[in-house]
Amino acid sequence: MRTVEMGNSIKIFKTGDQLSYFFAEKIVIGIQQTPQGNHYSIALSGGSTPRKVFEYIAVHFKTKIDWSKVFVFWSDERCVDPGSDESNFRMAKESLLDMVSIPPDNIFRIYGENDPDVEADRYSETVRCHVSLQRDVPQFDLMMLGLGDDGHTVSIFPGYLPLFNSTKLCEVAENPYSKQKRITVTGQIINHAKTVVFLVTGASKAEMVYRIIEKKDGWEKLPAALVKPEDGELLWLLDEQAANKLSPNSKYNDE
Ligand code: 6PG
Repeated sequence: MRTVEMGNSIKIFKTGDQLSYFFAEKIVIGIQQTPQGNHYSIALSGGSTPRKVFEYIAVHFKTKIDWSKVFVFWSDERCVDPGSDESNFRMAKESLLDMVSIPPDNIFRIYGENDPDVEADRYSETVRCHVSLQRDVPQFDLMMLGLGDDGHTVSIFPGYLPLFNSTKLCEVAENPYSKQKRITVTGQIINHAKTVVFLVTGASKAEMVYRIIEKKDGWEKLPAALVKPEDGELLWLLDEQAANKLSPNSKYNDE
């Protein structure tokens, strides 16, 4: 692993397993630092990179993580049934949650099968009730994010930036390509988290990683570029392919 400290840190890994190990260790340490009686709240993301991380954790951290102390949420969900092969819940369930001893009551899925407007409000309340509040806003311990080839993150796509800046905790979003409705957390929640981690692998992401981290070519219009934790830590976990276009000494300043 090559660590290239750039303000909010960027860590570049040779393999996906090394990236997954680092991410899992952050969860272990975070749980250890969670006061007795409290839960460690994590929002999971969908996507192929998160899936690989879940599969790794299910094998190598099955017993290293005290799952009874973890509250699992989602940062976004497609408006589909939980059994759909497009469901982020189903993906996490099959790649991780079914393989570890997490109490069912610790899992707070987004009801993709519900009316989207109703569900956005319901999930906002669910998060507000089960995630510690800081200045009256739910503060996740760990927010896991993926990065789309187009610069989207969670389910906020280019052209839909007002969703990121919504005053609501969750909004109804739309995949502009498929027109599929989605439920997504907003910047209200993302930028309030203690730790926000982008997990990004593969050559197809290199251009977006470069534009966002080095602030190039219309970066400010990319939803992922709006991720700037107010007080928390922003961490980019990249493999070498995704980091391929970064200049060796690029700095990532979180103004
Ligand atoms: C989703 C995710 C989305 C995903 C990115 C990256 O529901 O699809 O929330 O934001 O994380 O599209 O996905 P890949 O890792 O598959 O490219």
